[in-house]
Amino acid sequence: MHLSKHLEGYDKDIVEAVLGIAEVSKAISRGFITHQGKAESDNIYGEQQARMDVWADGLFIKELGESGLVRYLASEEQPEVMEFESDTDLGISIDPLDGSSLLSVNLTVGTIVGIQRGGVLKPGNEMVGAMYVIYGPLTVLVYALGNGVHEFVLNADGDFVLRRENLTIGSEKRLGQGAARNTYLLFHEEFISMLEADGYKIRFSGSFVADVHQILHKGGVFTYPGYRGSERGKLRLLFECAPMGYIVTQAGGAVSDGYVDLLTIQPQSISERAPVYIGGKREIELIMGLPK
Ligand code: AHG
Ligand code: MN
Ligand code: MN
Repeated sequence: MHLSKHLEGYDKDIVEAVLGIAEVSKAISRGFITHQGKAESDNIYGEQQARMDVWADGLFIKELGESGLVRYLASEEQPEVMEFESDTDLGISIDPLDGSSLLSVNLTVGTIVGIQRGGVLKPGNEMVGAMYVIYGPLTVLVYALGNGVHEFVLNADGDFVLRRENLTIGSEKRLGQGAARNTYLLFHEEFISMLEADGYKIRFSGSFVADVHQILHKGGVFTYPGYRGSERGKLRLLFECAPMGYIVTQAGGAVSDGYVDLLTIQPQSISERAPVYIGGKREIELIMGLPK
């Protein structure tokens, strides 16, 4: 079944936005070969951008903003929320290319999208949906719009076709852990030790979207914790943690900053960071229950 058919029944403006994002992701999947290397610019986090970061960001701004599909657009690669003329009140937060430091070694990267109404600076549990695309051996799109989590694959004809419907998080013991061990906070160190003692196997590529995709399918937990030097972690609440957390929660998992359900956190700015624990309910309950 084609993605457009699967989306029947959702609000028309949301369907158009999701299909618009899907079209851009097809262009991105074809554009890696012609946009290699570094750009000359840094983003607002002081990270040097890849040419693909800048190019993909421009494609989304054109397709979603300038063509009127959404009213508000916040991008990890832009300093401010952008507002456009539009008949809808849709707000999109987007990480155009997550994991882009891995482009130079040709590992899987992806696009992460959160969908809101009336703005973008809202807690994750007010999202109307979220989606991501990973550019791996296959280009795969996963969406959740409040009615299950569904996966599509880009086929040889250039169409996204259904691959798996109603995904639920796996039950294997896998552990993706960011940050350096010598900077761990005590409760985090205890969490990791408990999982290791329980036989969890390490999985961490450096591409959040790909790492969480693996956890979603296989099970376990991904964490990029708060650490000594950055107690609110590294990953961005609006562009990375909340959309992926929404999807994993819809698939029967959970997401936390270690203290509360991450989807209840009201972002104060679009660039806000959050520690993240994302995966099975059991693992997320474990970290939330540890004394801090
Ligand atoms: P981005 O490429 O959008 O800047 O995000 C990179 C993020 C995320 O994908 C990954 O989990 C993390 O940074 C890796 O960070 P370390 O290099 O510190 O492990
Ligand atoms: Mn990212
Ligand atoms: Mn990025």
